[in-house]
Amino acid sequence: MGSESERTGAQLFERMARVVPGGVNSNVRLEVAQRYFSHGSGPWLWDTDGRDYIDYVLGQGPAFLGHAHPRMLSGVTESIAAGMTFAAQSEIELQAAESLVKALGWAEMVRIGMTSTESVQAALRLARSATGRRLFLRFRGQYHGWLDNVLVNSLEPWPRVASDGQLASSLDESITIEWNDLEAVRQAVAEHPDQIAAIITEPMMLNAGAILPEPGFLEGLRQITKAQGIVLIFDETITGFRLGPRGAIGRFGVEPDLAVFGKAVAGGFPASVLAGSADLMSLFAKGTNHSGTFNANVLSCAAIVHALEIMQSTPIYEDVERTGGQLMASLRALFAEFDLQLQVRGLPAAFHVAFDTAAPVTCFADLQRADSDRYRRLVPHAIDSGVWLTGRGIWYVSGAHDEATNAATLTRMNRALTAFVEHDRTD
Ligand SMILES: Cc1ncc(COP(=O)(O)O)c(C=O)c1O
Repeated sequence: MGSESERTGAQLFERMARVVPGGVNSNVRLEVAQRYFSHGSGPWLWDTDGRDYIDYVLGQGPAFLGHAHPRMLSGVTESIAAGMTFAAQSEIELQAAESLVKALGWAEMVRIGMTSTESVQAALRLARSATGRRLFLRFRGQYHGWLDNVLVNSLEPWPRVASDGQLASSLDESITIEWNDLEAVRQAVAEHPDQIAAIITEPMMLNAGAILPEPGFLEGLRQITKAQGIVLIFDETITGFRLGPRGAIGRFGVEPDLAVFGKAVAGGFPASVLAGSADLMSLFAKGTNHSGTFNANVLSCAAIVHALEIMQSTPIYEDVERTGGQLMASLRALFAEFDLQLQVRGLPAAFHVAFDTAAPVTCFADLQRADSDRYRRLVPHAIDSGVWLTGRGIWYVSGAHDEATNAATLTRMNRALTAFVEHDRTD
């Protein structure tokens, strides 16, 4: 342990970068490599330099219940005190699976894993196993994990590999088209008869922007996939248990064949879930492999059980709708006061802020209109003023945010915007 004086983010980064490449364990964090948090509580974070922040990143989504939720901590701690990984089954695992099936309503079976990256791969394998087909259709700007076959750079010219060392040939497995464009889906399906195993989509696009499905889009995907024997996969990693107790599926009323959950499903603890019909899911017991040493470990399963209990026994969805809705409205008013053309789009639980015109955004191409560099210049002022944001514009609201954090956020953003406008003028 270093002494107190060696605990500034910059000092810790210097040590970290000697032993961890880039000073981070996930490349997504490179832009905040010098930020070190000592603790979090509810909607608040404290860094090692002693400053506090109202958190709208929520660990990139998982902390939907707020940080260090007391019921999560006591429930999970009690369960793991009796051991974590047994290479066999546990009763808490059964409880988690039964609770998930009950909570989801549409799904008959689940497999519990560690990360959504893995559960997406399991879903794609299952779709190929069920259909005997090779290709999958996916959408520009959506993220389904960091592995070769799903990682894609959506900026012009698209699609292309997004990482050094990524096999270009792995992109041959997929067809990428713009989201919310049913005609493009119909055309891609017609051009690849009996070759498409799956269509995978975020049911609300949240990895880029916060774009709602156009009326009829998800229904259209459901209809096309049914007619063509294609497996429809919803990647609910962000939307699941966040947009409502039954996620995007409950909110938009369209049921897929398979869905992947992560982030909020385990209340901030590591776990992912693949859910689906018994027909498809039971293939895992008949020659389709899905494995993992840590799958359904006690910590993950206890976290799922307790997170579901909290989400079902508290008015969290009403609270988030109210708090997030008020915050969206207040931010719009504040941005107008500063005469900044910042748009606030999305839903109270997850919305996106961008320097953009008021023209509609329905797909990744529309997002390119925004001045994302300018937003990235605004974010350090927000952080300096005690509002924790990411550069890509997404704001997540948790069940722990409330009217008091809204008021504090507005005061802090007022300070941030004053400083930003000053700098913007002199730059
Ligand atoms: C929609 C979606 N799918 C998959 C993933 C990958 O999840 P993980 O980071 O748990 O592997 C993410 C992560 O942000 C995601 O947002």
